[in-house]
Amino acid sequence: MQQDIAETLLAIIKKRRSVRQFKAEKIPFETIKTLADAARWAPSAGHRQPLEIIVVTDEKVKEQLSKAALSQSHVKNAPVVFVMCGDVARTKERYGERGRNLYVIQDVAAATQNLVLQATAFGLGSVWVGAFNEQRVREILELPSQVRPLAIIPIGIPDEKPVPPEKRPLAQVIHLNKYGQQIN
Ligand SMILES: Cc1cc2nc3c(=O)[nH]c(=O)nc-3n(C[C@H](O)[C@H](O)[C@H](O)COP(=O)(O)O)c2cc1C
Repeated sequence: MQQDIAETLLAIIKKRRSVRQFKAEKIPFETIKTLADAARWAPSAGHRQPLEIIVVTDEKVKEQLSKAALSQSHVKNAPVVFVMCGDVARTKERYGERGRNLYVIQDVAAATQNLVLQATAFGLGSVWVGAFNEQRVREILELPSQVRPLAIIPIGIPDEKPVPPEKRPLAQVIHLNKYGQQIN
C-alpha cells in the first residue's frame, strides 16, 4: 500500500470544509482548468460522461445566480462559481429512467466531490450549494433543455476557518454484512 498517498488523501478529505467567506483575489484560469480537470476524471455510469461545467466569473451573472440561490451571498462573493450540470440525454439514452433519475445525479455528484477536494488541495475554499431555483439557473446560463444544473460551487481563497462539524460516529454509519450489525 502507498501509505503516504493514502494518508495525504484522507487528510485532504478531512480538511475540506464548507467555506462561505472568500477573499476578493481572483483565481488564475490555469487553476480553474485544473479543478475542472479533476471533476472530469470522476467515474460515470457506462462512461457516458454527462458532465458539463459552466465556469462563472462575470459579476452580473454571479449576482443573478446568487438571487436564484435564495440570495445566498457566498454565490456572488466568490471570485469563481462552478455550476455543475448533467446532460441527462447522454445517460438516459443508454439507461432510461434509472439513468435520468439516478445515474446522472450520481455522476455529477462524484465530479463535484473531485472538484471540491482538488480545491482543498490547492488551499482554496468551496461550498456545495444545492438550494436554488433550477428554472432560473437554466435561464441565466442559457442551458439547453437536456442539461440540468445540479450543484453550484463558489470557490475562492478562504476568508474564514470554519470549525469542523460533528460527524455521526463511524460505528453508527457502518454495518457489517447486514443493517444494524456493528464492527467491534
Ligand atoms: C447536496 C448538498 C447541498 C447543500 N446545499 C447547501 C446550500 O444551499 N447552501 C449552503 O450554504 N450549504 C449547502 N451545503 C453544505 C452543507 O451545509 C455542509 O456540507 C454541511 O453543513 C457539512 O459541513 P462541511 O461541508 O464543512 O463538512 C450543501 C451540501 C450538500 C452536499
